Amino acid sequence: MGASLYEPINVYKPLAPDIGIVDGPFEYLTVGGIRLPLPFTTRMTVVRLSNSDLFLHSPIKFDERLAKELHRLGTVRHLVSPNQFHYAHIGEWARAFPEAISWASPRVRQRARARHVNINFTRDLDAHAPEEWRGEIDQLLFPGGYFKEIIFFHKSSRTLILTDTIINLELDMISEPWRTAAKLTGMYHPYGQIFFGMRLPLLIQRRQAKGAIGKIRSWRPKRILLSHGRCFDGDADEVIRSIFGGPAD
Ligand SMILES: [Fe+2]
Repeated sequence: MGASLYEPINVYKPLAPDIGIVDGPFEYLTVGGIRLPLPFTTRMTVVRLSNSDLFLHSPIKFDERLAKELHRLGTVRHLVSPNQFHYAHIGEWARAFPEAISWASPRVRQRARARHVNINFTRDLDAHAPEEWRGEIDQLLFPGGYFKEIIFFHKSSRTLILTDTIINLELDMISEPWRTAAKLTGMYHPYGQIFFGMRLPLLIQRRQAKGAIGKIRSWRPKRILLSHGRCFDGDADEVIRSIFGGPAD
C-alpha cells in the first residue's frame, strides 16, 4: 500500500473560530542534499488574530489558489518556523507577501544557510510570545536538544499547536520504512508519542522539560494539532497525561 495524503490538500479547514489547518502535499526526506523517495505529509496551522493578521505556523509549499483563499481570510503577516526542520517554504510565501514577517526558530538560520535555502528571516522566536500575538497566542520553548521547538497555544480555542514534539502517524496511510519506524517508536495513531529524537535530550534536560510540560498542562488544551499524522480533537487531557505523564511525575 502506498502513502496517502490528508485530502483535500491546499484548502483551509476551519476547526474553531479564527483557527484552522491546511494539509499539504508530500514532502520527501532529504539526506546530504539528496531527495529520497520517502514521502511524508505535513500540515500548516493558520490563526487569524483580532487585527485580521494571519499567523502561518510551518507554512506548507506555496500554492497560488491557497494564497488567494488565505488573503480573503486576513492579511498574511507572520510566517513562523517553529523548529529548524520546518522552514523550507517560508521564502516562497515571503516573496508572495512582502509585508510578512519571517520568524526564525533556534538554529534555523544556520540550517537554511548550510542548505543554500535563501530565506530572509526578519525576527527571532524565543521562549516568550512577542507583542504581535501575545494577547491571543502563548508560546514556550520545548527542550529537546537538537530537536527543540517552539510550542504555541491559541487561547480562545484552547488549541495546542505542535510541530514534531508529538507524532501520530496513521499506519494505513504510510508506506515503508516509515511504518516500521512508527511501530518501533510508538509514534502512531491512536496513541501518538514524543518524537524519538527528543527523548534522550528530554531526560537530560529534565528540569526544563518539567517546566515546559507544566506550562502545557496549565493551558488546559482542548485539542492538539500536529504537523505529522492525525491531530487530537477533544481528548487532549488524556493524550497529555499518557504522553507526558501525570502532574506528579
Ligand atoms: Fe517535522
